[in-house]
Amino acid sequence: MLTVTNRDLEVLYTREQIGTRVAEMGLQITQDLKGEKLVMVGVLKGAAIFLADLARAVDAEATFDFVAVSSYGKGQRSSGAVKLIKDLDQSIEGKNVLIVEDILDTGLTLSYLRKLFLQQHPRSLRIATLLDKPSRRIEKIDADYVGFSIPNLFVIGYGMDYAERYRNLPDICLMSPEHPE
Ligand code: IMP
Repeated sequence: MLTVTNRDLEVLYTREQIGTRVAEMGLQITQDLKGEKLVMVGVLKGAAIFLADLARAVDAEATFDFVAVSSYGKGQRSSGAVKLIKDLDQSIEGKNVLIVEDILDTGLTLSYLRKLFLQQHPRSLRIATLLDKPSRRIEKIDADYVGFSIPNLFVIGYGMDYAERYRNLPDICLMSPEHPE
């Protein structure tokens, strides 16, 4: 089993804390759906683990789709430009759509996706993000469901990466900018 023993990694949220919060989010999403169907759209790759857990906490008829956008690349800084790498497989017209994202940071990604998806006229469009870093916002956008609101820290684990590494850590950990390896 993979354990967080690297001395550069400090746990911010344990798997138990994440599990509790994801269950609460699932309950709230279920209540808001009022028995209607849902299309959960995960933003690859960071949201894959969150979507897998959140989907099982939502008591509704749900289907999955995934999009991929340009990401941070190998560093901790965004290039600022958002590019669609993988589009939706199916039309979301007339559907209840929930965008599932790992982190709402500058807001560039979700603003871009929201604009893009609204052009398809979904019945409803909501956003669930596991983490929110409101102090980093460039685009004015809020999520409908937020797991944890955090200060400007760089985090890894539970799907989130640094240069594609650490996604499979079960806890959300802090990465020191001085000692990224
Ligand atoms: P935004 O477009 O700036 O809101 O960026 C959102 C994306 O940036 C997230 O989906 C992550 O992929 C990435 N990101 C932002 N902050 C972090 C972090 O602390 N750790 C890992 N990835 C991050």
